[in-house]
Amino acid sequence: MKKIIISFTVIFAMMAVAFVSHFVVRTPNIIKAEKVESKEDTKDIEQDEHDVIEELEADYGHEIEEEASADPDANIIKTVTNPNSIAVLVNRRHLLPEDYEPKDLVVPDVKFSFYGTYERSYMREIAAFYLERLFEAAEKHNVILKGVSGYRSYERQQAIYENNVRNRGKKETNAVSAKPGSSEHQTGLTIDVSSDSAGVSLGESFGYTTEGIWLARNAHKYGYIVRYPKGKEKITGYDYEPWHIRYVGRSLATYLYEKKYTLEEYYRYTTVDEKINTKADIIRYRKQKKKQERKDALNSESPSPSPSASSKSSPSSSPKKTTAPKNSPKATAEIKTTKTPKPSATVTPKASPSPSAKAKQSTAPKDEDETTETTDETVD
Ligand code: DAL
Ligand code: ZN
Repeated sequence: MKKIIISFTVIFAMMAVAFVSHFVVRTPNIIKAEKVESKEDTKDIEQDEHDVIEELEADYGHEIEEEASADPDANIIKTVTNPNSIAVLVNRRHLLPEDYEPKDLVVPDVKFSFYGTYERSYMREIAAFYLERLFEAAEKHNVILKGVSGYRSYERQQAIYENNVRNRGKKETNAVSAKPGSSEHQTGLTIDVSSDSAGVSLGESFGYTTEGIWLARNAHKYGYIVRYPKGKEKITGYDYEPWHIRYVGRSLATYLYEKKYTLEEYYRYTTVDEKINTKADIIRYRKQKKKQERKDALNSESPSPSPSASSKSSPSSSPKKTTAPKNSPKATAEIKTTKTPKPSATVTPKASPSPSAKAKQSTAPKDEDETTETTDETVD
């Protein structure tokens, strides 16, 4: 009996020691360590976000350009001071600097209406990233969208505009085609989209297809707006263009969609207090991009072969699981374009050749691109 009591006492004493060491000594240490870690995490996140703002402000700047005048008929024309901003207002009265060329052009991993890689295959990284998500979401609903015309340099817009004037006259051209410097395509944030059901053409009929309707209803969720809506022709200065979508970030796109506002109305009527801060979109983009890059890294470690890069621009290719736009101008195929190289480029040379820089190097033959190029130039 005595032995049993002694054994119990010993066991009890051992349990007591374990309890004291775990909850009185170790646990507070763990909690303390966790607290330090989490404090450091928070600090990291704060620092990270601070860096993001610092880093990306120059690239995507959230500051905004006001409408030149509250009077839409006033003939005030100005050059925008924030061409890199995702909220930049570009129209007949807000021009981009002639030499403005986005520094982060990439080819989105989506279906296009044409084969090959050209200047118009490109978009700015953030716009390309969300275009991929938009097309992917559409495809989940059996809606197949095709990219037709993305980035355009000042010179190419000039060629398109002049071509349109020759073919359709000035009045008709001005209703559908922007003069160089006033086209959103030069921002790299815009793309013309169509579908096979509309014969991949850029016409009003696209707006009445399943694809056009889906696009109009869902583009804002991915940061895009239909820039020239029906009924707003007098405000935007252009005919209804259901195919022309512009990236402005999810916050602003949703605001405009819900208010049924064009970008012109936003800058004209939305008060300072109500203005949308696009910082959150930039931070969200950076986080999603990092996540995507991690996923890509994991996928590339797996032995299964990934779809070849050359299939991306093929109309018959089926875009697989989307990845962050990784076809930097450096990595893509030689760019074929019919645009005239700018004679006196004042743009600072970049580390990786931009579409126009590449175009300057290439003497493009009149190849299979010619037919679609012509369609693009005359219709849009
Ligand atoms: N079609 C639009 C207005 C452009 O040329 O940019
Ligand atoms: Zn367009």
